[in-house]
Amino acid sequence: MGHQKIDKKGLFITFEGGEGAGKSTQIVKLREALENLGFDVVQTREPGGCPEAEQIRDLILGSAQHHFDPLSETLLLYAARYEHVKKKIQPALDAGKIVLCDRFADSTLVYQGYAGGLSLSLLEKLYTLVIGDLKPDLTFVLDLPIEVSAERTQSRGLPQDRFESKDIDFHRRLRKGFLELAQQHPERMVVIDASRTIEEIFQQILKLFLTKLS
Ligand code: TMP
Repeated sequence: MGHQKIDKKGLFITFEGGEGAGKSTQIVKLREALENLGFDVVQTREPGGCPEAEQIRDLILGSAQHHFDPLSETLLLYAARYEHVKKKIQPALDAGKIVLCDRFADSTLVYQGYAGGLSLSLLEKLYTLVIGDLKPDLTFVLDLPIEVSAERTQSRGLPQDRFESKDIDFHRRLRKGFLELAQQHPERMVVIDASRTIEEIFQQILKLFLTKLS
């Protein structure tokens, strides 16, 4: 497979949203569908996505007892992001591939900014300094009422990482942050109602992707 050509250099698609919105399910479904159509697809995630950045992910998400200050956390996230962009995302885009990334810098704006209290302009400066001109071509924001996302993260029965165990007000700020960002960037961000069935959500995502391509 991998014969379909994209007329511009690659396509960078990100999936964003609060906890339990079903990003991971949708990203796998889109990757499989695009591979079946003959596209070269790279599926990846943040924090992480390459060995160096995965090591940093373990540092950030690993310990329930030791919490970094939001600024240190952000600097770690950006160190991970720099490795990930340089070693995986940019080379894949340069080779004309479609990159599907589970979370990217919008998550930092929302988790460390809107919800964590860091200044949004500082986070934007950091983005420009570390990442430069690269921006996602399309960002799906999977949106859920907070009661549903809280319920879903609890019912998974998995040990919650330190972000998921924060309180309901935190979930509320996350949702507000993503919705505000989406309003500010309508050229690339689309809000998806994630309270529907997996298949309904997927059909909308696929359609939006194909429209972007044409
Ligand atoms: P995940 O559960 O989608 O794999 O994401 C891991 C956690 O990391 C999630 O709770 C969100 C958090 N996170 C941030 O706080 N800032 C970021 O920039 C990113 C990429 C993730």
